[in-house]
Amino acid sequence: MADVPRVIEIEKLSYPATWPPSAYRKELQDNRWAHYIVLRDKALMQVQEPVPPEPERPRRPFPLSLLPARPAMTVGAPNQASIIGFAGLWLMVDEAHITTIAIHPDYRRKGLGELELVSLIDIAYQIGAKWVTLEVRVSNFVAQSLYRKYGFREAGMRHRYYSDNQEDALIMWTEEISSPAYVERFQTLKTALFQRLEAES
Ligand SMILES: CC(C)(COP(=O)(O)OP(=O)(O)OC[C@H]1O[C@@H](n2cnc3c(N)ncnc32)[C@H](O)[C@@H]1OP(=O)(O)O)[C@@H](O)C(=O)NCCC(=O)NCCS
Repeated sequence: MADVPRVIEIEKLSYPATWPPSAYRKELQDNRWAHYIVLRDKALMQVQEPVPPEPERPRRPFPLSLLPARPAMTVGAPNQASIIGFAGLWLMVDEAHITTIAIHPDYRRKGLGELELVSLIDIAYQIGAKWVTLEVRVSNFVAQSLYRKYGFREAGMRHRYYSDNQEDALIMWTEEISSPAYVERFQTLKTALFQRLEAES
């Protein structure tokens, strides 16, 4: 919960429209099917930053509905300034629905968004999901390129899905993530990513 203000700050820098401020808290406290992660820069772990006030923003679609409550949880978080990205998914029966993924603009193009996606797919394996799916703006070629790299394919469109500009959403799905072909693809990409991150760190 202590990470939420910094996550909201990065969300504002990353999306044209944001979730309602209470959404992340609801997700963490009330949605037992939700899994959220933050990515931290160890070099920033001791730095404290003030959180700026929130201006009014258009909202992006937030589909939290009548989901069973999860037990209350308290997390002792390290300081917020070290958070440079976040991501999350919902497990819906055997489908992992990626709800959000973002990297602070200063940290992009370093393989870190990919690291978050790899982490989400790893979570999908751990929680027994068979497929991973998401929606992405038709204009968001950067994110689409990341998803295609990890085997996501277009499976349909949600017309005028984004209320801020009535943009369509592309619906993308992986194949079954436990299939030998996907496991091999995922492990190969993950190994290459970790080698890159190690070499560059
Ligand atoms: C999408 C996002 C998370 C990618 O994070 P990132 O750390 O910059 O991405 P990475 O450096 O890990 O790149 C991974 C892949 O993404 C794609 N990609 C990233 N930046 C790109 C760019 N500027 N142009 C084209 N492709 C790009 C490439 O496929 C890349 O793989 P490669 O390195 O083999 O070329 C980041 O751009 C972001 O936070 N965007 C705003 C929020 C958003 O749009 N989220 C997705 C909502 S559906």
